[in-house]
Amino acid sequence: MFATALRNNKEVDSIPKDLFGAIEAIKQELNAVILAHYYQEADIQDIADYIGDSLGLSQKAASTDADVIVFAGVHFMAETAKILNPEKLVLLPDLDAGCSLADSCPPAEFAAFKAAHPGHLVVSYINCSAEIKAMSDIICTSSNSVKIVNQIPPDQPIIFAPDKNLGRYVMEQTGRDLLLWEGSCIVHETFSEKKIVQLQIQHPEAEVIAHPECETSVLRHAQYIGSTTALLKYCQSSSSQEFIVATEPGIIYQMEKEAPAKSFIPAPPEANCACNECPHMRLNTLEKLYLAMKNRRPEITMAEDIRVAALRPIQRMLELS
Ligand code: 13P
Ligand code: SF4
Repeated sequence: MFATALRNNKEVDSIPKDLFGAIEAIKQELNAVILAHYYQEADIQDIADYIGDSLGLSQKAASTDADVIVFAGVHFMAETAKILNPEKLVLLPDLDAGCSLADSCPPAEFAAFKAAHPGHLVVSYINCSAEIKAMSDIICTSSNSVKIVNQIPPDQPIIFAPDKNLGRYVMEQTGRDLLLWEGSCIVHETFSEKKIVQLQIQHPEAEVIAHPECETSVLRHAQYIGSTTALLKYCQSSSSQEFIVATEPGIIYQMEKEAPAKSFIPAPPEANCACNECPHMRLNTLEKLYLAMKNRRPEITMAEDIRVAALRPIQRMLELS
């Protein structure tokens, strides 16, 4: 386990004082690019060459000419980069950085679900394993799901997997009847509608902005719904000065950077906990990122037949986006 490796004193001792400088030096040596998601800790966002949402990160991974991709995100994101770049070394700082949503769609059960509904086109949210992608016709992200479903002929039945909340949102936006896989994200389901409404009463000028992975009970209070990149752009362009942010709070670091005069209130979880922070994303740290680059591991690998089958629906997404 890589987390255990970090606890090994020798490796901890070998972490340099100037981590930023050391990472930059190895980056040059490896001809590497560091891609990071907005839910990563602030230091990782600062050292990244590119920060983005799942679509932006896939597009960067598809176009990079670096030899090594260091992916500061979760497993399915790094896996997508590997599917697009079989010849490149793709590193993930902590291999245990998974995703509850991807885990909510086991391949064998999904294969049976698909077999039980012949004639359906399978549109899968990118938050799924390579095996699920391999069983899909088109991949989508939160920023292009509506656009992609709108391009499918109206009489074509569609299975939408694995996020039921994003699926319901797409149904509402497109007027299409989608057959939903009942998966969800533990982080986006944690927000409390009651506490959001209380915050709105305390901050009457604030706009609620939300990620479409949130439940309908939260989305109905949102003035704006979008992917992480879309939420970030909206905060910059909106005339509002205050926002209640219903997504993982890691993105607030970029919001404060991009719009320093505005204030951002994280939407509170149901319980008194930090469960609005993604436990998977937060497994990555700057130290683990350094060690991954230094040791050239942990590396993303997969069976070639799965990779080839998973590539086709990702390419369709990139064409349709
Ligand atoms: P986007 O950044 O694509 O909006 O996705 C959010 C997310 O849950 C990533 O795991
Ligand atoms: Fe997965 Fe949710 Fe974490 Fe995103 S926030 S990586 S969907 S568990």
